Amino acid sequence: MQKITIAIDGFSSTGKSTVAKQLAKHLGYVYVDTGAMYRAVTLFTMQQGFIDETHFDVNGLVEKLGDIHITFKFNPTLGFAEVYLNGVNVEKEIRTLEVSSYVSKVAAIPEVRYQLVKQQQQMGKDKGVVMDGRDIGTVVFPYAELKLFMTASAEKRAKRRYEELIERGDEVHYEDVLRNVQERDYIDSNREDSPLVQADDAVAIDNSDLTLEAQFTKILNLVEMTFEGL
Ligand code: DC
Repeated sequence: MQKITIAIDGFSSTGKSTVAKQLAKHLGYVYVDTGAMYRAVTLFTMQQGFIDETHFDVNGLVEKLGDIHITFKFNPTLGFAEVYLNGVNVEKEIRTLEVSSYVSKVAAIPEVRYQLVKQQQQMGKDKGVVMDGRDIGTVVFPYAELKLFMTASAEKRAKRRYEELIERGDEVHYEDVLRNVQERDYIDSNREDSPLVQADDAVAIDNSDLTLEAQFTKILNLVEMTFEGL
């Protein structure tokens, strides 16, 4: 069967990765979490002392970009690929609220985007990939056969992210998570380089009031229609 590229974009915490993982598993495709790549670069930036609450040494980061090697390795127990920064598994470390609070700033740097987009295009060059992010349908794979754009209210998204963090044992307040979601929405949508916008040919899915099952059924229908239209 012919393979396609599926691009899933949308605001943070809209459940993009949950859908993308489900779809990749169902189709036997590779799943690439591009947010994890921006988060890994952010973790590197923090480790190098290039970013904190008071400063961001953009030039320092750009000079060191060649030292950042991001890879994915499939974890059969989890059923998806975990992200590695220079050979170290950072899957858990990249999900903290601290990384979340800096990631939009790092992701707004054109040199960072250029490098990661090149790597993402390489990863998806043979199709058979489900990739989620902010610019997949607009910049990384503008010719993807199926593009989805996920949305949900900021409050619903913050609640989901808050519950995830609490479940992991992180000590966070809902108000801080909500503020982080709103700040990231703003920066991601207003940055100059590849802002978050819905591609003209993307199908919007507002899952504020959809169960995971209902959402997946809807998306599988879209996948089937895409195959029929090839
Ligand atoms: O999907 P996420 O919340 O893990 O993404 C983390 C950040 O990375 C998000 O604030 C925006 C940025 N990002 C991006 O700019 N482009 C992508 N393709 C993916 C993520």
